[in-house]
This record gives sequence, C-alpha cells and structure tokens, in this order.
Amino acid sequence: MQDLDISQELAVKNSIQRKQFYIESYGCAMNFSDSEIIGSILNAHGYGITQDEFDADVVFLNTCAIRDNAEKTIRDRLNQLRNNKKKNRDLIIGVLGCMAERLKSKLLEEEKLVDVVAGPDSYRDLPKLIAEVEEGNKAINVLLSREETYAEISPLRLNTNGVSAFVSIMRGCDNMCSFCVVPFTRGRERSRQPESILAEIKQLSEAGYKEVTLLGQNVDSYLWFGGGPKVEYKQATEEQKANAVSFAMLLEQVALIDPNMRIRFSTSHPKDICDDVLYAMKKYDNICNYIHLPAQSGNTRILEAMNRTYTREWYLDKVKRIKEIIPNCGISCDIIAGFCTETEEEHQDTLSLMEISRFDFSYMYKYSERPGTLAQKKMTDDVPEEVKSRRLTEIIALQNKISLENNQAYIGKVVRVLADGLSKKSDQDLSGRNDENIKVVFPKDHHKIGDFVDVLIERVTVTTLIGKAV
Ligand code: SAH
Ligand code: SF4
Ligand code: F3S
Repeated sequence: MQDLDISQELAVKNSIQRKQFYIESYGCAMNFSDSEIIGSILNAHGYGITQDEFDADVVFLNTCAIRDNAEKTIRDRLNQLRNNKKKNRDLIIGVLGCMAERLKSKLLEEEKLVDVVAGPDSYRDLPKLIAEVEEGNKAINVLLSREETYAEISPLRLNTNGVSAFVSIMRGCDNMCSFCVVPFTRGRERSRQPESILAEIKQLSEAGYKEVTLLGQNVDSYLWFGGGPKVEYKQATEEQKANAVSFAMLLEQVALIDPNMRIRFSTSHPKDICDDVLYAMKKYDNICNYIHLPAQSGNTRILEAMNRTYTREWYLDKVKRIKEIIPNCGISCDIIAGFCTETEEEHQDTLSLMEISRFDFSYMYKYSERPGTLAQKKMTDDVPEEVKSRRLTEIIALQNKISLENNQAYIGKVVRVLADGLSKKSDQDLSGRNDENIKVVFPKDHHKIGDFVDVLIERVTVTTLIGKAV
C-alpha cells in the first residue's frame, strides 16, 4: 500500500472516527514531544485529531510550570475556553503536563471548568479519564512513575514540517536545582530503552525526516542498564555494566542510522557532559556542532545556592574543552537574573562568564520563585523586582552584542543549511539552520523545504544570517 502523508492519514482517520480532540502545547520541547505521544494514545482509542478547537469534543492544554508567568498564561487560556464550553456544553477540558502535576486536585477546585487533570506519567490513562468525565465525574491521575518512558509508543507527529522531529530519550530529572520545579512535576530520572529510540529514528529517516533532536532534561546522564528505575553506575552489577549504554554510545548508534540525517540533542548539564560525547560529535559529521549548556549564573556562590554542583571555573573549563575538541562548536546558554541573595558583583560575574564563553544565543529569565522548591523553602526571594529587571536587561543587551559579533564573523562564508520552513517575513525566502543551530534565511529559487543548501552569508542580524544559495 502506498504511504499516505500525515495530513491525508489524519483526514482518513477523522472521517471514520466520531470523537475529536484538540491539543495545545506550552513550555519546553519535552512537552511538545509528549503531546505527540498523547496524540498517538488517543488515536489508538478512536479519537481523531482536529486543528480547530471549536470542532473538538475534548480540548487539552499540555502545560508548563517552570515560572509563574507560564502558569498565568494557562489561567488566561482557561478563561478563554469558557466561551468554548458555552457553545458546547459537553466539551471536555483537560489540563495535562507540569502545571497539572504541580497543582493536582487543587486545579480542579480552582478552575471549575476543568474536567481532567493528568500528569506527565499518566497519559496511557487518558482514554479512561475521558470516559470517567463522560459518566459525569471529574477525573484525575497525577501519579508519577519510576519506569514509564512510553518507549514503544510511536508518536503522532503534530504540526510537523516533515523535516525535523523530537525524540524523547529519557524522562524526569534527579538534579534538584534549588530554583526548579521539574523534579516535582516530572519525577525521577529514567532512560528509555535504546532499541525503541533507534527504531523510532529509523522510521523517521524512512519517512524522509532530515533532522532529529534527542530530548531529555539532562541527556548526558542517559544510562541504560536494562530497564526499570535508574541504577547508579556505582551500584550496578558487573553484568549490567558490561551491557550498559551511555549517552555517547547512544549518540554513535543514532548517528549511524542515516548519515544524511542531522542529529541534535538537548539539554546538556555542565556537570555531566564529558569528552566521550564531544569525541562522538567530532567523529560523526551528521551530529551537529552545537551544545545547549545552561550556566544559570557565572558566580560560584550563587551556583552553590542553586545546587548546580559545579563552579564558575568548572563551567569555563567545559566551554574551553568543547572548543578544543570541536573548534567551531555553537554553544547556547540559559541564565537566571536575580536569584536569591545575588549581589551586584555576583551579577557582574554572570556578565563576565558570558563575555568569556561568547554564547551564540541564550534564554534569559528573571528568577521566579516556585512553591515547593528548595529555594522557596530555605531562601528569601530578596532581589527587588526592579533590580532583577535591570540585571536581566543588561544580560540581554550583552547577549545581543555577542550574538551580533559572532554572526558577523559568518559574513563572506558559506554555511550548509537544512531548509525547514518558509521565512516569516517572505514566502519567497526559505529559512533553516546551520550546523551550529543559527537561523539562516535565503531566497527560495528552486530549493524546497527539506533540502540541504549551501548558503553564502552576506549580512546578519542579532538572530539571523542572511545570504544566497551558491
Ligand atoms: N534541564 C535544563 C533546564 C530545564 S528548565 C537544565 O538543567 O539546564 C529551562 C530553564 O528555565 C532553566 O535552564 C532555567 O534557566 C529556567 N528556570 C528554571 N526554573 C526557573 C525559575 N524558578 N525562575 C526562572 N527561570 C527558571
Ligand atoms: Fe531543573 Fe536542574 Fe533538572 Fe534542569 S537539571 S530540569 S534546571 S532540576
Ligand atoms: Fe515547563 Fe515542564 Fe518543560 S515545567 S519547561 S514543560 S519540563
């Protein structure tokens, strides 16, 4: 049988299925990837997917809880959904993901229109939860698991460009950074069975995908010991050690699947990224020269208060090591401005760490206190709001300056770009990324989405390289 493309496949499924669901994703790539797992689970239980929220029998918000603002966005969205419920009294509204896990049944009490609350490890239960609501009850499952990885579920690719896809390789986080809710919303760290990861990527390659991003909160601590809850290396048996698969080993196996497929991964933790991973990147051309390496702060006392378990010097050594092994490696960063007790000098240390590391870009945030975290329990959120804002402005201004300078160094050079969409500004231009993950825009001519194109860079902005195909 000839393969249908995904939209055709959805149309066929929708025409024979009665109930339809609509899903919106918020937060990090893990959540977007989870929505594709949810899609697959619901599909298998007879639900079709719709892109139109007013067509849906079930509306799901897959939510984020990382900062207070992320939750405010969801509260606002729920407010809007009141109208949908007025139009369709049978409409089922579900809150999934990290905010659901954080608030649990409180969410049902606070937001009366919500029918389903489901945490990140309970998605297999969604058909049952929907059925409970259809019987007139509210439904909740926020149990976290030590083993669930949805390993064998083949994700239903949503909003796909058919070019790049996320592949989740692990779940949860064991790090307990003092500012962070993720260990509470996503539970303990566990790695996904390598065979299922490789099979999923092989399928993507056969379906014509050109790029995959391996996802985990801390990919460098990926370790497969044969399943079940995470085992520390020290405690593993000799047999387990002999058959262990580390992140570097997984990366190599993934790279070998299809030499024409680009491999990316995120996120790397400075305490865990090691030479093995860097050498794997160096060895395989199709593993992109790009590492997202969040520092959070450039000051050792603050890093300690954050429980990041590395010092400023350790971080800078890692950056140096990356550049030694992969000279042109793109590096990006996450930075938090105004963490508890941060002084002006300590803030200056963050700026100087940025100057030395010369990140291509950064995600930059004001510290937002999260209930239940170590920082909320043990420290005072004592940096005044206007000081946080000013520090963040300085961090952003410096990053913009460095990004522009880094980008200017590309002028006159040819970079290989994977075209992954049309430019936002003109449908006559294609947009894509170079190996180092910097956005590149160029005139479309005869090229199309999914092509690898060599582009001569002629001018640049803070965020984008602009040129023409050669
Ligand atoms: N696992 C990744 C980060 C996941 S959360 C890592 O360890 O780097 C993404 C980013 O959100 C973090 O890197 C951090 O910069 C930011 N963040 C997390 N909690 C925050 C908080 N309470 N306030 C502000 N920013 C926060
Ligand atoms: Fe949060 Fe730290 Fe885990 Fe990242 S490593 S998810 S910041 S606890
Ligand atoms: Fe947000 Fe959860 Fe990701 S809190 S950043 S969606 S892991």
